[in-house]
Formats: sequence, C-alpha cells, structure tokens
Amino acid sequence: MKYAIGLLGALLFQGAVVAQTVNLPTVFSDAVKQTEWMLKEIPQVQSDKKDLVSPRTLDSSGNLRLVASRDWTSGFFPGELWFLYEYTGKEHWKEEAQQFTAKIEREKTNAGTHDMGFKVYCSFGTGYRITHDPKYREVIIQSAKTLSTRFNPAVGCIRSWDHSRDKWGFPVIIDNMMNLELLFAATKFSGDSSFYKIAVSHANTTMKNHFRPDYSSYHVIDYDSLTGKVVKKNTHQGYSHESAWSRGQAWGLYGYTMCYRFTHDKKYLEQAEHIAQFILNNRNMPKDLVPYYDFDAPGIPNEPRDASAAAVIASGLYELSTYSKKGAIYRGVANRILGSLTDKYRSPIGASKGFILLHSTGSKPSNSEVDVPLCYADYYYLEALLRYKRLKEKKSLWK
Ligand code: GLY
Repeated sequence: MKYAIGLLGALLFQGAVVAQTVNLPTVFSDAVKQTEWMLKEIPQVQSDKKDLVSPRTLDSSGNLRLVASRDWTSGFFPGELWFLYEYTGKEHWKEEAQQFTAKIEREKTNAGTHDMGFKVYCSFGTGYRITHDPKYREVIIQSAKTLSTRFNPAVGCIRSWDHSRDKWGFPVIIDNMMNLELLFAATKFSGDSSFYKIAVSHANTTMKNHFRPDYSSYHVIDYDSLTGKVVKKNTHQGYSHESAWSRGQAWGLYGYTMCYRFTHDKKYLEQAEHIAQFILNNRNMPKDLVPYYDFDAPGIPNEPRDASAAAVIASGLYELSTYSKKGAIYRGVANRILGSLTDKYRSPIGASKGFILLHSTGSKPSNSEVDVPLCYADYYYLEALLRYKRLKEKKSLWK
C-alpha cells in the first residue's frame, strides 16, 4: 500500500473548507509582464536559427532555450498566448498567438511522433476554442489523420516513441493519453468516427496495462507489435520501473478526465477519481501539494519538485470537479494547488527570461531540466487559472 489512509481525508477536508483565493488580476498582470519580456527575448535567440520557434526552458547558464516545431513542447507557448488573449481580450495577444500558432502548422503532416496533441492541440486547439477559426479546425483534422497512422490494431494503441529501438519494440507512454484530445476533437469537427475509435481503444488498452492495483501508473509499456502482448513495464523519466513518476500520474488524471468529457463513459470518470485518490492520498505528497518529481524518489524530502505536475493536476481536477460527486473537494484541492504555485513557485517579475513558474523537473534520471522553468508548467498553470475563474463565475469551462 503506497499511501497512508486518512491523509486524503485530511487534505480534502482542508481543501473543502479553506477558501483559497487567487488574485487573478494581479497574477494575470504579472503573467502579461513576463510574457511581454519573453517576446523581446525570443528574437535575440532566434537571430541566426529561424527554425527555432517556441521557448521551452532555461539552460544551465540561464539562457533561454528555444525549440523547433517538431519538439513536443512547441505548442505550449502559442497556447499561453491564447490564454492571455482569452483573459485580457486584447488584440495584441490574439495577433501574437496567431503568429506563434502558425509556426506549428507544418507539424500536421509529421508522422514521426505521437506528440501531435501536445503540439497541435495546445496551439491550434486552444486557438480554435477561443476563436472558432475554421482554418484551425482543418489543421486539427489533418493532424488527427497523421497521428492515426501510428495506431496499431494488434496492440490497440498509438505508438509513442520511435527512438530507443534497442530498448523497446512498441513503446506506449502514459503521456500519450493527452494526445487523445486531438482525436476526439477531430471526430467532432469532421464526423469521421475513426479518430474517436482509436482514442477509445488507446484509452482502454492503457487502462488495462499501464495501471497498478493502487491506480498509480507505469511510464512506458512496451508491446509486441504483432501479438499485442505486453513485453516490458518500464520508466524513462521516473525514479524506477516500479515507482510513480509524478507528471505521469498527472497526465493520467487529466487524460481520463478528458476521455469522460468526450465519451460520457463512466469507467473513465471512475479511473480519473481513482488516480486522484492515489495522488492526493500519497504519503509523499508535500503539504503544499506540489509533488516531488517522483512519488517514490528515495531522497524525499531532498528531491526536486515538479511544478509542472502540480499545474497539470490542478487543471485536471478543475475539470474532474465538474463531473464527479466529489466535485467540491476536488475544486478545493485545486484551489490550494494554485494558491501554492502562485505564492511560492512564481518567478520574480523581470527574471527567468519571462517564464512564469520555477521549480519544474523534465527528466531527473538523465539530469536534464532539473528544477527549472518549463513552458508546459506555465501553460497548464494559466489553463488552471482560467478554469478557476470560469468555475467561480459559474460558467462552462468550454464556452
Ligand atoms: N511528454 C513528456 C514529459 O512529460 O516529459
């Protein structure tokens, strides 16, 4: 048993009764200042490397690191710009969002990765939700066609990575749950049910093979591509094969909540509730609800935190709160996470080249991006703040 009975009760009780408030005008005004600064920094890094389109993190010398559109993180910054447009209503942010989003379009035909959802849905999908631009819908449909080519019917999943062929024949990572949003949306836009069927098959197969009895998940499941049998259960970014990598748990929580949104299949809702239980009840969850990079990291409490996992969990919990009988509790916990991130994890204004949150961890085992700002922490933080706002105003999360 990896969690202490009773802790969830205590956390949830506090979350439900402590009215954590976030000062949205101040937080967004700070986010605007940081992002304005980042917009000035980007061209300086880009000057001789025009294929670098989006900020990802800071390197060990504190320099801004940009990535090409093919990188899995390229869609987050355009998505952040859409969030700033959504909050402020200012044309300036719409124009910036359109420009940065356009730089990702070429990915719609890149079949070399499963990260289509992260790249295209966080940019074009977020832009479409806000503007209903029909051109964006077409990009999403084309991207779903391309992503579908990675589906293997014998396995029932989309193949995640093409790299590390010496280790895995057909690797599927828990992160891949996030890419299903693009497929579900493409079916809504096009009427072509094939994308929906692939998403459901992937979600069901992942539910069967990625999860342990306590509803923590493995990071990488390697399948036999001919028989569909599980070959290995591994990690790549977590502490060990049997540990619970924090961001992986966050992807699962968010992913199954999103699957329920599109399917109304109760088993996805229950799966999301079970994952929430594992995360929030974990004996190694710190009091401020910002997880260590892995719930089983051996040096806790002297292990790096992962603010990106906290931001994904908060955003996922807000959505889950709209479907679950435990909604008030989940919303209270999400408020507390946002309170912690806002009070203790934000960069000072004018520092960190314009990133908003500090203290995320990309991959501790490869000593890469440890305790740094990451664009996806900022993306899900802003998304969670906007969900917090909508729920406070008793509005739907989507319109
Ligand atoms: N999808 C890669 C990660 O979460 O680091």
